[in-house]
Amino acid sequence: MDKLVTISQISFKDIPQLVNMHHDPTMYTYDPDTEKVITEEIAGKYIRKAHKIWQEGTTYVFSIHNKENEFVGFITLRDVIKNSYAKIGFAIAKEQRKKGYVTAAIGELIKFATEILKLDIFEAYVAEENIASLKALSKNGFVTIDPENSVGKFKPRENFIVLQRKKKNLI
Ligand SMILES: CC(C)(COP(=O)(O)OP(=O)(O)OC[C@H]1O[C@@H](n2cnc3c(N)ncnc32)[C@H](O)[C@@H]1OP(=O)(O)O)[C@@H](O)C(=O)NCCC(=O)NCCS
Repeated sequence: MDKLVTISQISFKDIPQLVNMHHDPTMYTYDPDTEKVITEEIAGKYIRKAHKIWQEGTTYVFSIHNKENEFVGFITLRDVIKNSYAKIGFAIAKEQRKKGYVTAAIGELIKFATEILKLDIFEAYVAEENIASLKALSKNGFVTIDPENSVGKFKPRENFIVLQRKKKNLI
């Protein structure tokens, strides 16, 4: 059976949809610090930088496409520690939500990160009211941990919790 989504390195072809989804105020509901990629110029710079840091191996930005090959959102691995750790972030365009896309994309991202990059610890920092993110992460093996045990650079924020997925927790 065809996969629900595929992920691939973000590309300049994604600019119009990337800009469009950042005009939706709900992109910023839970995290007002979300980068505002709201013009084609900003999106171009964002993607050029994403390609550079992909080469450096510190951050990987992927676009998410559905079976119809429509762009539906993006997903990232950031703060990568070689052969060990990365932080996950994601967003889905408003009109494409509640179709299981982010749940499937997290699965694809972890497959890439474990098989190709050999990472085995993942974290996500999520607002506690962001039920959709919490559900999608938990379906992919993430559990809530004490922020003091975070491997990454979690800066304590009101209402934010740390979720972690470790290979050994899954056995
Ligand atoms: C959070 C977000 C990525 C979810 O993407 P999505 O593709 O709609 O998520 P899924 O379809 O995989 O749904 C995951 C689960 O959450 C549920 N869900 C989706 N949207 C929901 C909502 N607004 N309220 C409550 N539950 C919701 C789904 O029904 C599903 O539950 P189930 O597994 O029990 O069926 C999307 O809403 C978004 O981009 N929001 C704005 C940006 C953001 O918050 N990014 C994440 C920062 S950590």
